[in-house]
Amino acid sequence: MSSKKIETALIAAGRTKRYTQGSVNPVIQRASSLVFDSVADKKRATTWRADGELFYGRRGTLTHFSLQEALTELEGGAGCALYPCGAAAVANAILAFVSAGNNVLMSGSVYEPTQDFCTKILSKMNVSTTWFDHSAGSEIAELVQPNTRVVFLESPASITMEVQDVPAIVAAIRSKAPDAIIMIDNTWGAGILFRALDFGVDISIQAGTKYLIGHSDAMIGTAVANERCWAQLRENSYLMGQMIDADTAYMTSRGLRTLAVRLRQHEESSIRVANWLVARPEVAVVNHPVLPQCKGHQFWQRDFSGSSGLFSFVLKAKLSREQLAHYLDNFSHFSMAYSWGGYESLILANQPEELAAIRPAGGIDFSGTLVRLHIGLENVDDLIDDLAAGFERLGQ
Ligand SMILES: Cc1ncc(COP(=O)(O)O)c(C=O)c1O
Repeated sequence: MSSKKIETALIAAGRTKRYTQGSVNPVIQRASSLVFDSVADKKRATTWRADGELFYGRRGTLTHFSLQEALTELEGGAGCALYPCGAAAVANAILAFVSAGNNVLMSGSVYEPTQDFCTKILSKMNVSTTWFDHSAGSEIAELVQPNTRVVFLESPASITMEVQDVPAIVAAIRSKAPDAIIMIDNTWGAGILFRALDFGVDISIQAGTKYLIGHSDAMIGTAVANERCWAQLRENSYLMGQMIDADTAYMTSRGLRTLAVRLRQHEESSIRVANWLVARPEVAVVNHPVLPQCKGHQFWQRDFSGSSGLFSFVLKAKLSREQLAHYLDNFSHFSMAYSWGGYESLILANQPEELAAIRPAGGIDFSGTLVRLHIGLENVDDLIDDLAAGFERLGQ
């Protein structure tokens, strides 16, 4: 990215004349077949020397190229692959770099389907997984094996929100296994709050379903790769038939234009709610990366330029099934739903033993019920009133 500030970059990215053709937004070009003007034109496109060459719908149209160019610029990479959802981006990025007999080093606090991909799909291909604790820094070097090919991070961690020491991990891996490819699920920071590639990560993956789309009405995955990984990631994505429709690409580009203002509001409101929760007697700990009580807060403070709207808190009490249903069923502004990153507030809860079951490297050191919030764009006072009413229900 040039010296432009991020708000300005988000407005301009991918909006060259080739893609907008005179309108403000990129055109929606729906196509399977793309017509060649001549044999020479067809030959040029077929050799696929450059990204952004119209060839066949599966390889993208102007709408896709515009989005790919935008994300490549915003995340500072060499190219960007698009996938039908975040889970597909994770799976295909890993698959692009492993072969039978390899080993993957995987953070033990990653999103559950990412773990399942390792245990249920990679294992079938004779690719082993070694799990490491979210708090690992340079010690990760001790886990590297001669066949370690991919190192996968997610920061902050799924649900429990621990922030990882990415620079220490990158330095350790580079000295012990220079050929290993380092990837990160960078969804929480929307690819812009943590500039993963600037920290030496090779591939920054997002479930664009969350903040890029921002309205809970479409799904997309993105993977921005640096120079050494781009050609291989691109070819593998293509051979695996990874494709999204032009309309979703358009919706994602449109999401970019408001991303900075939405994130700023998510951040401001989530910090207000988090601080309010810290003072509540029912709450044991608030896992919001901006708070010193969140594990890895110092790494967030050092490496991130801001925060978003997703965090969790742990109650002192472990709620019974009935208490939890009474608590969750009666919110006015918080809906219960998977996913996050849209304009609406969401709430989900996990019992400690449920979380322990999806933490292969351990790390669940609490006994109360955990509640995960996504703070949306509603008025924050209404959200706090709703949460206060929730605590009153617990006392009944
Ligand atoms: C951190 C993280 N990564 C990846 C995904 C998967 O994204 P998608 O639902 O688009 O497949 C999710 C979905 O909740 C997520 O929270």
